[in-house]
Amino acid sequence: MKIGIIGAGNVGTGLGKRLAAKGHDIVVSFARSPDKVVSAAVSIGRTARVGTPEEAARYGDVVIIATPWSATLEIIHAIAPMLVGKIVWDTTNPLKPDMSGLEIGTTTSGGEEIARAAPGAKIVKAVPPFAEILLSPSLEIGGELPGVFICAEDAEARKVILSLVEDLPASGIDAGPLSLARYTEPLGMLLVQLAYAQSMGARIGTRLIR
Ligand SMILES: NC(=O)c1ccc[n+]([C@@H]2O[C@H](COP(=O)([O-])OP(=O)(O)OC[C@H]3O[C@@H](n4cnc5c(N)ncnc54)[C@H](OP(=O)(O)O)[C@@H]3O)[C@@H](O)[C@H]2O)c1
Repeated sequence: MKIGIIGAGNVGTGLGKRLAAKGHDIVVSFARSPDKVVSAAVSIGRTARVGTPEEAARYGDVVIIATPWSATLEIIHAIAPMLVGKIVWDTTNPLKPDMSGLEIGTTTSGGEEIARAAPGAKIVKAVPPFAEILLSPSLEIGGELPGVFICAEDAEARKVILSLVEDLPASGIDAGPLSLARYTEPLGMLLVQLAYAQSMGARIGTRLIR
């Protein structure tokens, strides 16, 4: 599958590397310095290429958004015309810059705000495992794969992201409508608090047990 990545940081590189290893073709974009995007492409490997956010958005059948919340809506507005009809994997967590809490939550979500900024795109909220895990040799935590809740209005788009999540590999959970991102994003915040403020470290995650 052709995948465009907006955000050449930890998550963009970690997801890119794991998806490239499964045969997906990647165009990576968006950092404050061009060198950083080049390093991300080198570290993703295989046939990964560098582009502008507009090029990455145009290229991808799936476009991954892996930007800090503070920069997200501005770049989404800029590339919105290229996202019409595309499946957009929103990995963001709307964290305050000092990570002390969420900028928004429970009455709306980052996913829904991105959907408003990119009309016509199929937004799929799926907060991935920590980048430290994505960039490590194995995603397993205590012998199990971390769960990723997948929320979107479009059922086909949820299926596509579920298969990419399983390519990582992680355990995808089809959670239904995008509005449930109001609850999965705070779950991400809980993990951030446990990992860093409570010093549990980044090799933690959640799973749905049925
Ligand atoms: N890290 C995790 O473990 C994790 C896990 C789940 C979800 N998330 C979410 O995923 C998103 C990405 O996190 P991350 O850890 O990958 O962040 P990151 O390492 O800081 O990467 C963000 C990328 O966006 C670029 N960027 C930011 N502002 C920009 C601007 N104004 N102009 C151009 N480029 C800009 C950064 O470039 P520069 O490097 O040049 O600043 C960097 O390449 C966040 O919303 C986060 O909450 C993170």
